[in-house]
Amino acid sequence: MKKTTLSVLAITAAFATHGAQADELSVVCGAEQDWCDLMANAFEAETGIDVALVRKSSGEILAQVRAEAGNPKIDVWWGGTGDPHLIAASEGLTEPSGVETGDLLGWAKNMADISKGKSVGIYAGALGIAYNADILADKGIEPPACWRDLTNPAYAGEIQVANPNSSGTAYTELATFVQLFGEDEAFRLLAEIGENVNSYTKSGSAPSKAAARGETGISIGFMHDMVKQASAGFPLKVVAPCEGTGYEVGGVSVIKGAKNPEAAKKWVEFALRADIQSRAPEVGSFQVPSNANASVAPESPKLESIKLIDYDFATYGAPETRERLLTRWDAEVKPKGN
Ligand code: F6P
Repeated sequence: MKKTTLSVLAITAAFATHGAQADELSVVCGAEQDWCDLMANAFEAETGIDVALVRKSSGEILAQVRAEAGNPKIDVWWGGTGDPHLIAASEGLTEPSGVETGDLLGWAKNMADISKGKSVGIYAGALGIAYNADILADKGIEPPACWRDLTNPAYAGEIQVANPNSSGTAYTELATFVQLFGEDEAFRLLAEIGENVNSYTKSGSAPSKAAARGETGISIGFMHDMVKQASAGFPLKVVAPCEGTGYEVGGVSVIKGAKNPEAAKKWVEFALRADIQSRAPEVGSFQVPSNANASVAPESPKLESIKLIDYDFATYGAPETRERLLTRWDAEVKPKGN
């Protein structure tokens, strides 16, 4: 009798745990808040699984995933630039989701190949420069056309860009400069541009929002975040730098030891579907989707018409490269007191 009671209790407890696991999911989101919310709401409506979601910048997410290694509070990491996803994969902080990648474009599968299936590409977007046409016209300043133009003293106090320690956008910029100009020249240029920078923000899209609202004349960031502001009616012009530019592949990764692994896998499958990716423009997110069958918004910057570098994700998504570049950035670019 006693044995039976214990068995029933054990089964009930196991069922309760399993039930809880199937009904909730903890997501950390690296995309814009409105897209994060759209995804969470659509996933909840379709699956009945409750989503607890928080939005953070890519470097902040990597720091959290590292800090929680072995006892993660997050189940799945969706969005944000690819390099930190690859770093987490190589540090054994994420695990393969095992989902099919058959419908995905080559650059998205490349993420899966480099990370041994631990991260998959969900979108892509190119880096660029934006300027507020009204501000530059009022001040009689010529708009920039190239990265090197940003060293022009005429732009003193006019440029805003994110900090690469917290922002994946700014880390992509740093890695792009190194690939375009060589490491020493990249840091020399970034320090010279730094003379014109009024603020290093935490999030990568903040500078373009500030430029759109006239709080700064020029921003560096992803073109899709600039297009979002321009399509909302702000006088923001987008420039593809003459030297060429780098790009991101946003990723999705399941955290190793996730408390809700089945729900996490469902999220990855959901996030890779063409019909789900096609919904991003509803909230003004104009990245290029990774599913070949997803629709591409007319506003999305055309990657094929931009001079893109052959961004080396394996190298710049390696922990030692990021560590070295950020240490140098802190020493040579980051202004005192910022
Ligand atoms: O959501 C907009 C976006 O530009 C994404 O395309 C990108 O992955 C993410 O922001 C990067 O944000 P952050 O620079 O704050 O890490």
